[in-house]
Amino acid sequence: MKNVAVLVASLSANSVNRKLAHTLEKLAEDKLKFDYLDIAGLPYYNNDLWANPPTVVTELKRRVEAADAALIVTPEYNRSFPGVLKNALDWASRPYAQSSWKDMPTAIVGATPGATGTAAGQGHLRSVLPVYGMLVMGQPEVYFNMKPGLITDDLEVTDDTTLAFLNGWVQSFGAFIERHGLEKAPAIA
Ligand code: FNR
Repeated sequence: MKNVAVLVASLSANSVNRKLAHTLEKLAEDKLKFDYLDIAGLPYYNNDLWANPPTVVTELKRRVEAADAALIVTPEYNRSFPGVLKNALDWASRPYAQSSWKDMPTAIVGATPGATGTAAGQGHLRSVLPVYGMLVMGQPEVYFNMKPGLITDDLEVTDDTTLAFLNGWVQSFGAFIERHGLEKAPAIA
């Protein structure tokens, strides 16, 4: 069982991205254990706070470093990804040269209720994650259109093609973690 640190980049109680995350968690329950990180409770990044770092920050780093992989589930905000996600990524990337993300096998998925899909937001994210030291899975990409009824409140996927696609993604991510997990260097204390 691999431990996956999950960042859901929406704070909305009715988030379609959170629903997608829970759906993937259910489909992967025999091989991946999802640990949902608290990104809402983080202060805005401030270098000065390292003098006496808030528990929510040290806990974030501890849980990232305990993970075998990371999963980012993100909406698109104005053709980019939400600031709350950037804030969390930045916190765990510091102190300097002590990034908790280093060599972390990472996947990005995103959901929207509309048709335009999160592709632009994910594109921005894909361009910065290597700076954090993360190893990003290229394929399959997931630009999920959360149509009404496609996933029930009990997280049942009602369309066979969509279910097969999501199951395929779970297989691919599991294999990606197996392949690249060995490259994950021990965190610097
Ligand atoms: C959006 N939304 C949006 N959708 C999109 O496809 N492209 C975009 O650029 C944007 N921009 C955007 C900005 C802001 C500030 C908000 C609040 C929303 C719509 C967005 O996809 C929709 O609200 C989703 O439901 C957000 O995901 P969660 O919160 O339901 O997971």
